[in-house]
Parts: sequence; structure tokens; C-alpha cells
Amino acid sequence: MKVGVLTGGGDCPGLNAVIRSAVRKGVQEYSFEFVGVRDGWLGLLKNDVVPLDISSVRGILPRGGTILGSSRTNPFKHENGLERVRETLAANDVDALVVIGGEDTLGAATELSRQGIDLVGVPKTIDNDVSGTDFTFGFDTAVGIATEAIDRLHTTAESHMRALVVEVMGRHSGWIALHAGVAGGANVILIPERPFDIDEVCEQVRRRFEINYAPIVVVAEGAVPKEGQLVVKDRSLDEYGHVRLSGIGEWLAQEISARTEKDARTTVLGHIQRGGTPSPFDRWLATRFGLHAIDAVRQGDFGCMVALRGTDIVRVPLAEATAENKVVAAPLYDEFGVFYG
Ligand code: F6P
Repeated sequence: MKVGVLTGGGDCPGLNAVIRSAVRKGVQEYSFEFVGVRDGWLGLLKNDVVPLDISSVRGILPRGGTILGSSRTNPFKHENGLERVRETLAANDVDALVVIGGEDTLGAATELSRQGIDLVGVPKTIDNDVSGTDFTFGFDTAVGIATEAIDRLHTTAESHMRALVVEVMGRHSGWIALHAGVAGGANVILIPERPFDIDEVCEQVRRRFEINYAPIVVVAEGAVPKEGQLVVKDRSLDEYGHVRLSGIGEWLAQEISARTEKDARTTVLGHIQRGGTPSPFDRWLATRFGLHAIDAVRQGDFGCMVALRGTDIVRVPLAEATAENKVVAAPLYDEFGVFYG
């Protein structure tokens, strides 16, 4: 059996840990051969594959990014995409794929699986918005980085009695904002799932200043004011139809300054949340995902995604996992109401 491994979409810490564990178990226990597909689906369109063996995955467990490269290529947006994918697999004698991706890459995998390509999905993303799994790897590292940033911003905010707005990633889900905001003791946490009232935010900021605290506002890049619209970096769409988010943090700081007459500044964490070494939890989760994905391949259980449920790794149908994104439910957000404002 020859297995192709690919990493697609935005990178995240832990991708290399999956590649390593899948290759280690596949080679050592099942005598599989492996190839790495370069740059996500792009490598299958361009027949860009590289040999992958135990020596090529040695030492990569703590390394951020992906040794295979990644892209936001959607095979179905390219001429004869499906045929070209099939041709590359045939030309390299690849029997099955391990596809490591988020909602977009796994969405394409779902369709390719329907078209008869044997593959197993592995959920990754700092956004934690893939359904069917309690957590994606990459998320814990991103939350750790954002929490450390918030901790640091508290002290400088207090020194200058300023409001500091921290914009975090997450696309249209508020997982990073909520987890890092709660862990970092933020006073206002704004998530896409709950359109916010700018008057209320300013009132909460004022109340913090009144009791001599400098407020920290954590805002998810996809958060939207009740009266207003999504703030985007630019309107161009990627191959999966997504716009580039970011800008809501700057907008908020300007509004807070203008309405409260207090100094307010913004920190946009951006790709810092995605780079660098994975946390121990992400290394552990990614390693388990890789081991279980290769077991699924071995058993011919294709069209599924490995997932974390409680402390177990289970398999869920890809079609189910990619039907809709996992968002923050209202009761979870409300659970922390005592800390808001
Ligand atoms: O999906 C991960 C993510 O980091 C999102 O949080 C963010 O909106 C997007 O990717 C940014 O993508 P890019 O790196 O392509 O600008």
C-alpha cells in the first residue's frame, strides 16, 4: 500500500506531528510506503510529490508549519481538477490519501471521496471550527499565544490607563477569542456568533475605568457590530469563497476613543497565532490523529475523519464533519457573563 499525505489550507502548529506519526506507524507496523504531496491539493494538480520515509520525518515533532507546504487550492476550481488528481495518484501508484486540513480542504476531500478517491481526513486549524471533533490541533497553541499576549497587555494598559483591544483570528467562529479572553481575564469578549452593541461595549469600558482598571477588549476578527457589517481586509475571495478578515480591532479602538474620550489602542495578533512550535497538548493530539488515521487507512475505512471525543479518538463520516462549521453555542458564551464588563 502506498499512502500520500497532504496538508492544505492555512498552516497550524502540529501538522508535522501528524505527518511524523502517520509515517512512523505506517512504515514500522504496516510496511506502507509514503509520498508527500506538496502544497495541499496543488501538488495533486501539478504532480508535485516527494518521497516520505522515516528519515524525512525525524526531528519534526516540535517544528511549526508543515514540511510539505500548504495552499488554499480548491481542486474543483481548476480545469479538469478531478481528472488531474486521479492522474497524479495513478502516476505515483498512490492507493490512498491522508488529508490534513480544515473545513475547506476537508470539504474538497469529502467531494473527492464521493468521487471514489480513497482517503481519510485529519482535522486541523487554529480556529477549532471543524464539526464532529471536540478539538482540532493547532487551537491550543493559538490560545496559549493569545493568552500570553493578553497577560502582557494588561500590565501596559494599567500603566497608561488605556483601553487595549486585542484582535484574534478564528474566521467566523469565536473559539480563540472566548478561550483566550477567559484565560487572560479580558473584560469584553466579542465573538462572531453574538453581534455586539457598540454602546454596550463602551459602557463596559467606562465602568472598568471608573473602578480604576484598564479594560482589555478581546475581539474575534469575524465579530460584527449589531448595526454594521463585517470588517474585511480586502474583498477578494480565495478559491473557497472566503474574504480576508481583519480590521474590526482598529475600528473598535477608534469608536471607544471617540465615545469614551479615553485612549484606546489595538494589537492585531495575526499569524503569530499560527506560527512556531506546537503546545504539548497539540503535539499529543496531532500524534494520536496521525496514528488513528493510518489505522483507518489500513482497515480501508475511507471517507471518514478522525476526531477527538472526550479522551477517545473516533471516526466520523467526512460528510457529517464538513456539513457545517462548529460555532460557540450561546450558553457557553453566557456562562462567563459575570466577567464581562
Ligand atoms: O483558518 C485559519 C486562519 O488563520 C483564520 O483564522 C484566518 O482568518 C485565516 O486563516 C487567514 O488566512 P491567510 O493566512 O490565508 O490570510
